[in-house]
Amino acid sequence: MKVLSAVAWPYANGPRHLGHIAGFGVPSDVFSRYMRMAGHDVLMVSGSDEHGTPILVLADKAGVSPQEFVDKNHAIIAGELTDLGCTYDLYTRTTTANHYAVAQELFTRVWENGYMVERTQLGAISPSTGRTLPDRYIEGTCPICKYGDARGDQCDHCGNQLEPEDLIDPRSKINGETPEFVETRHFFLDLPALADALRIYLEGREKTGTWRPNVIKFSLNILEDIKPRAMTRDIDWGIPVPLDGWRDLPSKRLYVWFDAVIGYLSASIEWARRSGDPEAWRQWWNPDAADGLEQVSYYFMGKDNITFHSQIWPAELLGYAGAGDRGGEPGVFGELNLPTEVVSSEFLTFGEQQFSTSRGHGVGVREVLDRYGPDSIRFYICAAGPESQDSSFTWRDFVQRNNSELVAGWGNLVSRTAAMVAKSFGEVPAPGALEPVDEEVRATVTGSFETVGALLQRNRVKAALAEVMRVVGEVNAYVSRTEPFKLKGEDARERLATVLHTLIQSVSDLNTLLAPFIPHSANRVHEALGGDSPFVPMPTLTEVTGLDESDATRAYPIITGDYSTMPAWESVPVTVGTPITKPAPLFTKLDETEVLAAAGED
Ligand code: MF3
Ligand code: ZN
Repeated sequence: MKVLSAVAWPYANGPRHLGHIAGFGVPSDVFSRYMRMAGHDVLMVSGSDEHGTPILVLADKAGVSPQEFVDKNHAIIAGELTDLGCTYDLYTRTTTANHYAVAQELFTRVWENGYMVERTQLGAISPSTGRTLPDRYIEGTCPICKYGDARGDQCDHCGNQLEPEDLIDPRSKINGETPEFVETRHFFLDLPALADALRIYLEGREKTGTWRPNVIKFSLNILEDIKPRAMTRDIDWGIPVPLDGWRDLPSKRLYVWFDAVIGYLSASIEWARRSGDPEAWRQWWNPDAADGLEQVSYYFMGKDNITFHSQIWPAELLGYAGAGDRGGEPGVFGELNLPTEVVSSEFLTFGEQQFSTSRGHGVGVREVLDRYGPDSIRFYICAAGPESQDSSFTWRDFVQRNNSELVAGWGNLVSRTAAMVAKSFGEVPAPGALEPVDEEVRATVTGSFETVGALLQRNRVKAALAEVMRVVGEVNAYVSRTEPFKLKGEDARERLATVLHTLIQSVSDLNTLLAPFIPHSANRVHEALGGDSPFVPMPTLTEVTGLDESDATRAYPIITGDYSTMPAWESVPVTVGTPITKPAPLFTKLDETEVLAAAGED
């Protein structure tokens, strides 16, 4: 199968916090790693979302240009995601010439097909100067939740997207005066002309029964009240509108969400161009381009992004294909696949409150990476993240999961297995005849490849990890039942070899089963079991330059990787005679008092 893993593009407005990576980062990587292990051709793409009003406001505040501002944040975010072990085939950014060209091609064809209609809207001007007042400079009271400091484009309190003229008591952020609203021209995506096609698409997805129920219900619901939506803005930071009479207007740009979702396509194209086969992206995007292989696409995000992935992005693709009420023809990219699955998670809160970059509230990814390493946090998110309901992060819970499940459950099993083998044989012993108790534990372990795999394929990460940890418990129970530490003397030697062989084989298999969740630890465990080269591949942060003339001299980091060495999702026999030494501690027990003190929460 050709599997596109399309991961939400983080806003380049600052470092990531745990809420972000719980929503899109960790779930998408667990899925992509698993699908590669299961033998599928995965293309995992994302990048930094660098346009839009919030970026401009923050750049202004910091006294730097928006480009300088996103350059810095893009590098920070790419570093965090690399260190977390996220296996992007390409993590790029929206300020590349490649992305501009792809976004403009989509806009142009949607317009040519008749789904982008020009209309007059109200725009703000400053009464004292007569100049247009960009959305970013307007604040007021949210008409929905009545929050007093809502922005012209969005309310940070309730999360709803707004139009500046909807604000109650709007005011200019520059001088506090009340803006005057005058008519301004914009392009609107004609969603009503695409509604029938959208409904057919969504009802088809509903029939499969694979979308999370709240996601499909919400997506079908918002079709009821569908209206044209502005896809251009009065703003000077963004992608120029690629039409005559608009192209050179400095204050008209494409709406940030119009271009951001196109990133999935432009990043796939960029990946292909960098790989040396510029047409290779088509195998994930053009129906029938994949030599008879099935093509699927999974989109990962937090729930505040659902509308853009189950309505706006499919509408852009349908408009591009000419598949709405007005007909039309696809452009140079041909007919493009709609999302197969929109995998949306709920929110992770920090204690009782929302994580928030702008209010500096919560836990930074970098902070946890530096203090506790990537896998403690990956493990926590997989075990207790907001997969299908809001969940709340606390440091106590984090310490508890780490100590009781990762260290006492899994770490302890690995350490005592390796220590016993090292002490008694110094290498993987050859087994004698298996007894029922051995066969039973082997069947449990090998059987779990199928059950855990089926759960991961459906993005039931929490249940999948719980199942692996249940089997870890079974293998720990096998140690108690067979008591290898009591098997002493020559008479017991063959039985000891059989038990320890069974044990080390089970630990090796469990390490494969845990690899999608905690890949860094999987490499350390693999080494403790006598393996050499890294067991699972990791992403790399690479400095590159742009691919086109206009950005060929601009250097910036991207995430890429060679994931072709991903091990298979199956039990691989351990090799008798492999030397085993007593391992160094593999997992670290955390001290709650110290963790709370480090977090400033004593
Ligand atoms: N930047 C958005 C956010 O952080 C997500 C954009 S997803 C995209 O919520 F694909 F549309 F880019
Ligand atoms: Zn609000």
